[in-house]
Parts: sequence; C-alpha cells; structure tokens
Amino acid sequence: MQKIRSSEITPAAEYVAYRQTLSRRGLLGALAGVAGGVVAAACAPASSAADVQPAATMAASSTTAPVPTTAAATAAAPAIAATTASAAPNVDELGNSFTDYAAVTGYNNYYEFSTDKEGVAPAAAGFAVEPWTVQVGGLVNKPATFDVGQLRKQFGEEERIYRLRCVEAWSMVIPWQGFQLGKLLQAVEPQAAARYVRFETLLDPERMPGQQQAWYSWPYVEGLRLDEAMHGLTLLATGLYGSALLPQNGAPLRLVTPWKYGFKSIKAIVKIDLVAEQPTSLWMAAAPNEYGFYANVNPQVDHPRWSQASERRIGEFSRRPTLPFNGYADEVAGLYAGMDLQANF
Ligand code: MTE
Repeated sequence: MQKIRSSEITPAAEYVAYRQTLSRRGLLGALAGVAGGVVAAACAPASSAADVQPAATMAASSTTAPVPTTAAATAAAPAIAATTASAAPNVDELGNSFTDYAAVTGYNNYYEFSTDKEGVAPAAAGFAVEPWTVQVGGLVNKPATFDVGQLRKQFGEEERIYRLRCVEAWSMVIPWQGFQLGKLLQAVEPQAAARYVRFETLLDPERMPGQQQAWYSWPYVEGLRLDEAMHGLTLLATGLYGSALLPQNGAPLRLVTPWKYGFKSIKAIVKIDLVAEQPTSLWMAAAPNEYGFYANVNPQVDHPRWSQASERRIGEFSRRPTLPFNGYADEVAGLYAGMDLQANF
C-alpha cells in the first residue's frame, strides 16, 4: 500500500473524530436522517495482479428487461429508500466498519491513469479538477451545462455510507458525500422518450495517459436505466470521508450505485445524456460476455474469472458471503421484478 501524505490523513482523522462526537451527543442518526439516511457501500481493490485483469466471457445479452416509462421512472424517483441509518460512529447500517481512508484513496481502479491499483493515486496526483463543467442533455426539456460548484450549491451535499463491491470480489465501506442524481435529472426535465441515462468520463489523453492505449474504446462510458438513475440510493459523489474527492476516486464528480458492481460508478463525469436506447458501456464493448448492462451484485451469477459467491472486505483476511444486491435488496429488488437476472447480468 502506498504511503498516504499527512495532508490526506488529517481530514480523514478529523472526519472520524467529528462523527464520534456526534455519536456521543446522540446526533449521528439525526444527521443521517437529515442527510438522506442511507448507509451503504461500493467497489474496491483487488488482492493480486490476477484480480486486476479485465474480464473475458459471460452470458446472455440484456435486451429482455422491461423498461419503465419516463413518467413511472421519474415518479418513483427521489423518494429515498428506507435503509436504516446508522447511529453508531463509523459503521454502516449492518455494523460493518468503514474501510481505512488509506485503502479507499490508495487502492483504486482507474484505467485512465494506471492498471496498477496502487499506481493510480500517484499517477493521478495533480490532475486538475477545476474548473470543471458537466453537460446534461439529450432527451430533456432543459439541457444545461453546470459548473460542479454550482451543482453542489444547487443540490447540496449529504452523507451516504455505502458498501462498494467490485466485480473482482473485493469490497469496501465508504462514507461518501454528494447529492442524489435524481435531483439533477428532474431539474433538466426528462422527455417521455427518455429511457436510459448515459454517462461519459473526460476524454483527454494528455492528462489521462491510459487513454493513449488503444485497448479500450475511450472515453469510459456507463449507463443506467432511467428508474435506476432516479432511485433514491443513486448518488453523484463529490466527496468522501468529509473532504472533496481526490482525483483517484473520480474527482470532481463520480457516480455511486451501491447495489451494482463498482465498474458502474464512472469517475470524472463530463457528460450526462438521457437517451432512448440502452447505452453500451466501455466494459460491454470490451468484453460483452463478461460485462452486462445491469451489473447488479448477485452471488448466484459468477463472472467468468471471479466467483461472486463470496468477497473479501479490504482490511479483512477471511471472506464473507456476497449479499444479493450488495445488501440493498429491500430498496432495489423491485426495480427488477419479473426479470431474468441470469440473462440480464
Ligand atoms: N471510472 C473510470 N472513468 N475509469 C475506470 O477505470 N473503474 C471502475 C469505477 N469507475 C473506472 C471508473 C471500477 S472497475 C471500479 S471498481 C471503481 O471505479 C473503483 O472506484 P475506487 O477506485 O474509488 O474504489
């Protein structure tokens, strides 16, 4: 694990101390309630070089899923899921401890900078994230280009503690700050024909040297069904551990969908489009048999190279069973009612 600068340790330590104080005063649950009240997680680093390799063979295509109408999707939207907020300091709602700040910020997947997890942070150090604008358009009535500072002001920042589960079968628990994607989408008014949301990372091979490699079709692209995008758990993260996101974690704006594998959580977003057709992600294009559109965490559907039955929490030695939808089934399983989750991986 690479050494963490003291300038990075201090904010994390302050954040933990702050939460402990709130907990002593009985205010932590209240804060979580105000903030949106969900405690969850995402995807994390692999344990060996083999873990890091991109995938190679999976099953069916995902064209059979029912797609809700725009009205249904947007109506169901920002009502945040009823996950229990944690009133204890520094654990999620299941009692899982936060992953160390050093691991969250030092063990990363970000192929634009490096395919070596511990090489991402040094390679991304100094990556300038100001000024930064995000263009939101496509099938919407009010397309707009937002400055990230403006987004934070307009939509606020709340804490979400989410489990992050990587398809490489490792996991973390991360305290994020950010705002619900649904708030932004509602502001631009999706049109009736909009069924999906397509996200794009910055394309700048000079500043993101991994993009000079032709193995992948850059820029990194990801997508969600509109109802997934509008779901209360879906976050646009601007910070973690109480500080602004660092470049290695996707600064200044990164998607977090805690019930899906971590590769869905696209970093350094510059473009969000509402579209009619299911977007093809970078991973779907690279290895369609390995990476599907849905990518819901599912212990019963293995990746060709990684069993998904269990996972290794970063910082722990023994493995733990994988939870369906990464432990968020109560909140999101209804989105997939009637769908064949083997076929729609
Ligand atoms: N976004 C971009 N633009 N490029 C990437 O390589 N990697 C994804 C996702 N977002 C990736 C990305 C993968 S595979 C994972 S597991 C998570 O970011 C890792 O997020 P973390 O480094 O903050 O843990």
